[in-house]
Amino acid sequence: MKIPFASWYPAIGTRESRRQFNSFQPLSAEILSNLKLTCEEFRPFPEARVELITERPDKIFNFIFGSYGFIRNPTATLAFIGDIRQPHVQEAVGYTGEGVILEATALGVGTCWVAGFFNPAAAAQQLHLASFESVLAVSPLGYSPFEKTLGEKALKGFARNRKRKPLTELVSGLPEKDWQPWIKPALEAARIAPSATNRQPWMFTIQDNSITLANDPGKLDFKVSKRLDCGIAMLHIEISALNSNVRGKWTFLDPPLIARFSY
Ligand SMILES: Cc1cc2nc3c(=O)[nH]c(=O)nc-3n(C[C@H](O)[C@H](O)[C@H](O)COP(=O)(O)O)c2cc1C
Repeated sequence: MKIPFASWYPAIGTRESRRQFNSFQPLSAEILSNLKLTCEEFRPFPEARVELITERPDKIFNFIFGSYGFIRNPTATLAFIGDIRQPHVQEAVGYTGEGVILEATALGVGTCWVAGFFNPAAAAQQLHLASFESVLAVSPLGYSPFEKTLGEKALKGFARNRKRKPLTELVSGLPEKDWQPWIKPALEAARIAPSATNRQPWMFTIQDNSITLANDPGKLDFKVSKRLDCGIAMLHIEISALNSNVRGKWTFLDPPLIARFSY
C-alpha cells in the first residue's frame, strides 16, 4: 500500500492521545472495515503487523486503575504485533502502527499508544499469534468528546505533558540555512510524534539529502524500547517528505544509530 500522505500528513498535526471515550457511540461498521483494511494493507515490513480487535477492550485496558493514562470506555483496540526474532522489530512496529493510528485520526477516531500498562495476555487471547510474535503495544479506539474530559485534563505528570523539545536541541549536521526545503517540515513532523512518557528520544543529523535518526543515549528504555518511538518518528519524516514531493527511502543502521532517510 502506498502511503496516503494527503490524509496522513494533516493527521500528524491533529493527532493527540485520547484516553477517555464515549461508550454509547461505537465505531460504525464502515469505520471498522476501513481500519481493518488499513491493518491488512499497510504492511511495509515483514516483521510488523497491526490487528483490529473488536471484542472486550475492557479486558485489555483494565490493568491498573488510576495508573499512568487510565483508559476509559474504549470500543475497540488496535494490537501492534512484532516478530521478536528480528533486529529492527521495534522500529518496524512503531512505523507500521503509527500508519494505522494516523488513518484512525483522519477518520475522526481517538487513539493512544499504550505500551506500558496493558494486559498482553488478554490481547493475545483474541489474536492468532505465532510463537515468535509478541504484542508490543496496543491502542484503544473510540469517539472522544471534542474537548478533553475533566478526567483527561486531570492526568498527572508525563501523561499530560504534550510539550515538545525545540528543534535546536535535537539537530546536528548542516546548519539550517543549508537545509533543502523538505528537511525542516520533516523534522517538525518528527518532533511532534508521540513517544512513551513523552520522552522524545530522538536526535537528527542533517546532511545534504538525508536525515539520520539516532537514539538519545540520555533517555532510558524503562519498559518500552526507545526504538518503538523512533519507528513512529520515521513514518512522520517520510510522510512529510512525500508531502514535499520527496520520495526517499530508509536504511537501517547499527546502534546507537537507528536509520537514515535519503533520496
Ligand atoms: C510507544 C508509546 C507508548 C506509550 N505508552 C503509554 C501508556 O502506557 N499509557 C498512556 O497513557 N500513554 C502512553 N503513551 C502516550 C504518551 O504518553 C503520549 O504520546 C505523549 O505524552 C505525548 O502526548 P500526545 O500523544 O498527546 O502528543 C505512549 C506513547 C508511545 C509512543
